[in-house]
Parts: sequence; structure tokens; C-alpha cells
Amino acid sequence: MADTATGIRMAVLMRETTMNNSTKLESGKVWLVGAGPGDPELLTIKAARLIAQADALVYDHLVSDAIMAIARSDARRIYAGKEASNHTLPQDSINQLLVDLANEKLSVVRLKGGDPFIFGRGGEELETLAESGIPFEVVPGVTAAAGCAAYAGFPLTHRDHAQAVTFVTGHLKDGTVNLDWQALSRPKQTVVFYMGIGAAAEICRQMIAHGLPSMTPAAVVRNGTQPDQQTLLATLGTLPNRIAESAIKPPALIIVGSVTKLHEKLNWFEQ
Ligand SMILES: C[S@@+](CC[C@H](N)C(=O)[O-])C[C@H]1O[C@@H](n2cnc3c(N)ncnc32)[C@H](O)[C@@H]1O
Repeated sequence: MADTATGIRMAVLMRETTMNNSTKLESGKVWLVGAGPGDPELLTIKAARLIAQADALVYDHLVSDAIMAIARSDARRIYAGKEASNHTLPQDSINQLLVDLANEKLSVVRLKGGDPFIFGRGGEELETLAESGIPFEVVPGVTAAAGCAAYAGFPLTHRDHAQAVTFVTGHLKDGTVNLDWQALSRPKQTVVFYMGIGAAAEICRQMIAHGLPSMTPAAVVRNGTQPDQQTLLATLGTLPNRIAESAIKPPALIIVGSVTKLHEKLNWFEQ
């Protein structure tokens, strides 16, 4: 496996060649940056440079230590939390924090796992910045579906298997997953559920009830792109029991569709 420190060293080098101290901006600014799904080498060069230069970083729990290690030793680091059941800072406080840091004329990196606009609430944070007249930029990241699919060997739209891919939240609200099950249960597509582990039984039940055979291939990928990545192969009929038996925990994706069968042939990472 490639040396994951290479990207970090590159970022540090960029930092040293571009600036030695604080950025000393005329006015503050916020960069909303996607940190990718975990492997630090999946950061974009732009993300690595901004992290290395930032005066302050506000980061979520899915951002790895290796990525935070790129930041300046004197940068302010503020943990914003956001596990499914443990919101360290409420969303309103995070929005206001970004405004306050920018008003201190700091260069602020708001660092989120994956891509900030995919189930990341990045849009809400930017709306507050826009309303407060704070300048901002957005740096996309590799979303978990793309990262997990690549590292598990699931070509999401392999033309022999799927004509479309859908990213959907499996987050339970009031104990139910309120989704367009008819559309999600059409054949010839791949459906990727973010935040769906707690609702796996309901997801599988609904997809079968809306017409997919219980033998439809399905999989879970946990900690995708990281050294401890776990892939579990099953069917809609067996997935809930497999999840219960393996005691798999978030962060994980559920991927439904026959592309998951290609893991056996295309798995290159979990050897
Ligand atoms: C709040 S969403 C954030 C998604 C993120 N913005 C993205 O684009 O990937 C968090 C969910 O993303 C998924 N996720 C994020 N990173 C993951 C990883 N490395 N492996 C598997 N699933 C991941 C899990 O379903 C997790 O519960």
C-alpha cells in the first residue's frame, strides 16, 4: 500500500513554501472542505493546502487524526462532533461559531468527512455565512459511496448491472424511514444508504415488500478506505441477521444491487 504520509508531507511542504505564519487576512473567510472517507491520500491537493494553512479548523468526528496532523501546530482546533446520537455542538452553534471565527479575521477551514454537500449540512452552514456577509469557498471531497465502492470493488454503475445509482439517507426519524420505496426498489440500479445501519431491517423489509427479490445482493462497508475496512456480503433477505451477528457499527454504508457481487473478483484492498 502506498505511504499515506506522502500526502501529508506534500501539504506541509506547500505550507512552508507559501507561508510561515498566520495568514493575516484583511477579513476573515471560511473554506468548507471535504476530507474524504478516511484514507488521508484521498484528500484533494487543494484541501491539503487549505488545512495546512488554516488559522482555525472546525472538524467533525469522521475526520481522521492523520488529516488533522496536517494543520499548523498553532492552529485553533475545534471539535464539532456529530455522531448519530451525540451532537457535541448543535447545528446553530456551529453556524454561529464559523461566523465568529471569520469575524476575528481568521482563515477558517470547516472540515467535514466525505463531501460537504452530501448528507453533510454544508449548505446550511453556508447559508448562515452568506446571510452574515462572510466570504466562503467550497472544496469537494470524495464521498463515502465513491470511496467505499472503489475500495470494496463495487463499480456502482457497471453497465451489466445498473443504469443508475442513488444516494439516500437511511437515518430514522420517529422510528421510521420515510422514503420513496417504489423508486428505490426498481431493478437495474444501485442504491447506497448512508446512516442506514440502525434501520437495516426496515430498509430490507421495505425493498422486498416493494418488489425486489429477497435474493437481491446487498452489502455493508464499514470504515471504508481505512486499514480496518470491513465488507460484509449478503442479500436483502439475510442482511439484517448478518449485521446483527457481526455487530457491525457505524460509520457504514448499505449498498443494494448486483454490483456488490463483483467484490469477489475486484476486491483489491482487503486482501
Ligand atoms: C453524516 S453522513 C456524512 C457523509 C459525508 N458527507 C460523505 O459525503 O461521505 C455520515 C455517514 O456517512 C457514511 N460514511 C462516512 N464515512 C464512511 C466510511 N469511511 N465508511 C463507511 N461509511 C461512511 C456512514 O453511513 C455515516 O453514517
